[in-house]
Amino acid sequence: MRIAMIGTGYVGLVSGACFSQFGIDVVCVDKDKQKIARLEAGEIPIYEPGLDKLVADNRAAGRLTFTTDLAGSVATADAVFIAVGTPTRRGDGHADLSYVYAAASEVADALRQYTVIVNKSTVPVGTGREVGRIVRERRPDAEFDVVSNPEFLREGAAIEDFMKPDRIVIGTQSERAREVMRAIYRPLYLIETPIVFTTLETAELIKYAGNTFLATKITFINEMADLCEKVGADVHDVARGIGLDGRIGRKFLHPGPGYGGSCFPKDTLALAYTAREAGSPVTIVEQVIQVNAERKKRMAQRVVEACGGSVAGKTIGVLGLAFKPNTDDMRDAAALDILPALLTAGARIQAHDPAAMEEAARHLKGIDYKDNAYDVAKDADCLVVLTEWTQFRALDPKRLKELLRRPVVVDLRNIFNPAEMRGLGFVYESIGRPQ
Ligand code: UGA
Repeated sequence: MRIAMIGTGYVGLVSGACFSQFGIDVVCVDKDKQKIARLEAGEIPIYEPGLDKLVADNRAAGRLTFTTDLAGSVATADAVFIAVGTPTRRGDGHADLSYVYAAASEVADALRQYTVIVNKSTVPVGTGREVGRIVRERRPDAEFDVVSNPEFLREGAAIEDFMKPDRIVIGTQSERAREVMRAIYRPLYLIETPIVFTTLETAELIKYAGNTFLATKITFINEMADLCEKVGADVHDVARGIGLDGRIGRKFLHPGPGYGGSCFPKDTLALAYTAREAGSPVTIVEQVIQVNAERKKRMAQRVVEACGGSVAGKTIGVLGLAFKPNTDDMRDAAALDILPALLTAGARIQAHDPAAMEEAARHLKGIDYKDNAYDVAKDADCLVVLTEWTQFRALDPKRLKELLRRPVVVDLRNIFNPAEMRGLGFVYESIGRPQ
């Protein structure tokens, strides 16, 4: 079995490395020569725990290679995975499929034997059929099937998620293609991972429906948190109290500053667009998008209020910049809404993130980036927690208090214990917990 993985972004690189760990020969292809050169030199362009070792081990075993040669890789592959980016299109919010279709054309030209072309990228309903049409048009002689095989891994837990998924979704009506997919996923089949075989269109929709449902769940608990603050209830008890009902489930009920990342914001927008185009708008999703965007904007105001109504001339310490822990990804991170608003309001900002500072510096100018969390607290008028890195949970509140100019903490991830913080004399604000 031989796989060509087109695109060495998050999904492509992790999936490629994990498939090679299954014992399959995998060649990862990218147009970006520099990126391939770095990968060949053993450098991993993204921060993902465990990925460096996985890549190194499988390269050493000769099962994982990197190249810019798409045609050569496709010619000998049993399956070609398309894992290129599908960013939000400017203007209308739909997914930009130009990279997917360009890859499909190149793959078509290179086909030499029966090949399964697998869409791994998150692509709107209808994309798989269009990929099939493009390939058929360019190569009427070629033997191929198109499959949709969406990926559900989370950044920061990508390898574990890939190796032990809740399910695998495979969309195709071709039995021959299903056989190839079964062979690829054999190790997961053996650990009894459920496989949902369905049509192309349904598989494509499952991916969006899943992410949109999770974004809705988070937005729901965020609104419950706001309500808790008004009525003196505790959102964590609400989350546990409802989450223990198996029909609801306990996961993704942690309140915060609003969801971010490379997937939920993009996929909710794309699904809303697809639904409007299809004449069947998903109004609940439209609401989620709006509520989440407004929430992120409102968070800066919370900091201003905690600082007595103005941050002008004050120093704000910020812990965490990435959209969540264990990643250096800044895409749609709450920090990108909150920090510029505080700067505009006249604050000075000093910040630390264990992995995302380089990435943050590209987007956020005028920030004083510090080497550690205690330096962030030093002489600050307020400390804001934006990302719940484990290291931050382990900080010593007494030491923080000594370092801060004013003992004000706005904890937008609820990592500290309110009673302990107030007992130590902090003005402590968190999300959805009684004062
Ligand atoms: C998400 C999905 O969880 C994956 O299943 C999916 O494969 C991926 O998108 C994708 O489509 O590629 P990811 O964006 O890596 O994964 O991150 P999540 O852990 O889902 O977090 C997304 C955002 O929701 C973060 O900003 C996080 O802080 C927030 N969140 C998550 C909450 O505010 N509360 C929660 O309870 C959970």
